[in-house]
Amino acid sequence: MNYHIVTYGCQMNVHESEKIAGLLRRAGYTQESPVEEADIIVFNTCCIRENAENHAFGNIGALKKLKRRKKGLLIAVGGCMAQEAGKAELLIKKFPFIDIIFGTHNVAQLPALIERKRRERKVVSLLPDREETEDGAEAYRTSYPNAWVNITYGCNNFCSYCIVPYVRGREKSRSAQRILAEVRALVQAGYKEITLLGQNVNSYRDGDTDFPALLDAVASVEGKFRVRFMTSHPKDFSERLVAVMKKHEKICNLLHLPAQSGSDRILTLMNRRYTRGQYLEKAAYLRREIPEAQITTDLIVGFPTETEEDFEETLSLVKEADFSSAFTFIYSPRTGTKAALMEGQIPEEVSKWRIARLIEAVNENTRRKSERYVGSTIEVLCEDFDEKKGLYLGREPLGRMGYFASDEPCVGEFVRMRVTRANGVSLYGEKE
Ligand code: 5AD
Ligand code: SF4
Repeated sequence: MNYHIVTYGCQMNVHESEKIAGLLRRAGYTQESPVEEADIIVFNTCCIRENAENHAFGNIGALKKLKRRKKGLLIAVGGCMAQEAGKAELLIKKFPFIDIIFGTHNVAQLPALIERKRRERKVVSLLPDREETEDGAEAYRTSYPNAWVNITYGCNNFCSYCIVPYVRGREKSRSAQRILAEVRALVQAGYKEITLLGQNVNSYRDGDTDFPALLDAVASVEGKFRVRFMTSHPKDFSERLVAVMKKHEKICNLLHLPAQSGSDRILTLMNRRYTRGQYLEKAAYLRREIPEAQITTDLIVGFPTETEEDFEETLSLVKEADFSSAFTFIYSPRTGTKAALMEGQIPEEVSKWRIARLIEAVNENTRRKSERYVGSTIEVLCEDFDEKKGLYLGREPLGRMGYFASDEPCVGEFVRMRVTRANGVSLYGEKE
């Protein structure tokens, strides 16, 4: 039987979809297929911004005809949006053809829910308050040579704009022993890049093991592989972490450190618990210790009450913190969060004009930094073949994507590439 999974949102969700695939395989759906040929279609949704939700609503709605035509087709909706208060009811009301709704807290029960749905006619919805995320599902990985490994689930930070703590629950760290066993097994199976995942990896703790200690242990596993981690909250980013990064060549010197805003007034309203000055100090410390280190970030424009001056401080932070690249977002009010109730919501046209200028500033940094690679040799981990370009592609440690030609297949290999041309975040060159 065939399955099709549609994923929205972040890396965390992409990895969760790998776990969903693992569970579907256990439930007898052994073949991934296009939507039209699937026997089960699973939507792994995201609710972090309104447009992610609208996108999912649109895609689910579009299946009405297929569902009517195809007897036995199951439609399941999971992920953050399904877990959001009141959303399961809304989904059932709007799309009565949905068969199964499951949340982020009970992914591992998907096979049981499918089984129940085969017996019962009515929609199966199970969204426990109890959190059961931990390790119930073995991932069916499709990202070779990269492998994602969860180290924490949930978040305790309650940034005032963010719905994650409400849908994903309080932060929980996985046991260091289990994480290390998973990493060892992945390296032994031939994976060449391990990315440790958590909403805020820096607050990881299992007994005496904090994040720097865990990272040290992961990077001490034998074998040639790279280690990445995301996301780091600036308030918890420590000198000890920098020391561990410096100690291990395996750890990529690329730090994703979301700043969100460059204005102290807005940072306070966002409940981020650091100032622009403290952020810049941490960035400077990292660069003093590891001169080649690069920083990427997330930035939000149009937070309630953001003035032109506040925005200009975000704009100037791009240059001052010297971001290598950035994800930029227009603030999206999320029901249940503090910011959604704040006065001074910013009109959409204003936010659009701000984000356009911000993107231009970020692109300028990206271009400038990419140009510097021309003439140098980089080591990329080849991850795919781009059919359209007719070139192999792979990432270098600091996050740029390198494209090159090769007569032999080289996915999963470290390749030395001489850079001849740069375009945005992409570098083009020749295999050495
Ligand atoms: N509106 C816009 N962007 C948001 N993010 C989180 N919540 C919101 C929201 N309500 C952004 C933050 C975060 C990233 C994953 O998504 O920048 O770091
Ligand atoms: Fe949301 Fe803040 Fe937690 Fe990140 S740290 S998931 S932005 S609450």
